[in-house]
Amino acid sequence: MLLRATDPAWIQVALAKFDDVLIDHAHCEKKAAAHALSMLSSFPEVPGLARAMARLAREEAGHLTQVLAILEKRGLSIGRDLGDPYAQGLLKNLRNPREQRMLDQLLVSALIEARSRERLELIATHIEDAELRLFYARLAASEAGHALLFVRLAKKVAPDEWQSRLDALAAAEARLIAELPIRAAVH
Ligand SMILES: [Fe+2]
Ligand SMILES: [Fe+2]
Repeated sequence: MLLRATDPAWIQVALAKFDDVLIDHAHCEKKAAAHALSMLSSFPEVPGLARAMARLAREEAGHLTQVLAILEKRGLSIGRDLGDPYAQGLLKNLRNPREQRMLDQLLVSALIEARSRERLELIATHIEDAELRLFYARLAASEAGHALLFVRLAKKVAPDEWQSRLDALAAAEARLIAELPIRAAVH
């Protein structure tokens, strides 16, 4: 799904300032849970979407709880959300008529999940702490499942258009990831 791999410099920055990554990660999980519920509110008519989003919100809230526990153990707290230029950049690609917006939101969500999976997997394979390796490997697998879920829903709402729109949005995502400065953050 992703057209461009993460710059290898990112994992070095992420490991050097891992506390910052953890705090950002907590915010990502919080936003993922909130986003699932907002998708449920926006598009309740899509067959299967409401229940899938309710389940997703619970799962993301579970991830959030786990990341918060790790923060606490390190004496850190979540603090204020400083915003995510990656997600903001991606949202600029959403079209406006409702039907198109629904498809775009599903596909952008799939891409964010896929990018999260890639980055969490990088952490899982590079971090030294054995517990964190396991934790991040588990989370990466879970985010991979979420990417597939959003693609499945996109296929359902736009059987003819989803693939060409995914190609276009994936190209936009790849450009964005190349443009944005590397940060000690998930994205
Ligand atoms: Fe998650
Ligand atoms: Fe997710």
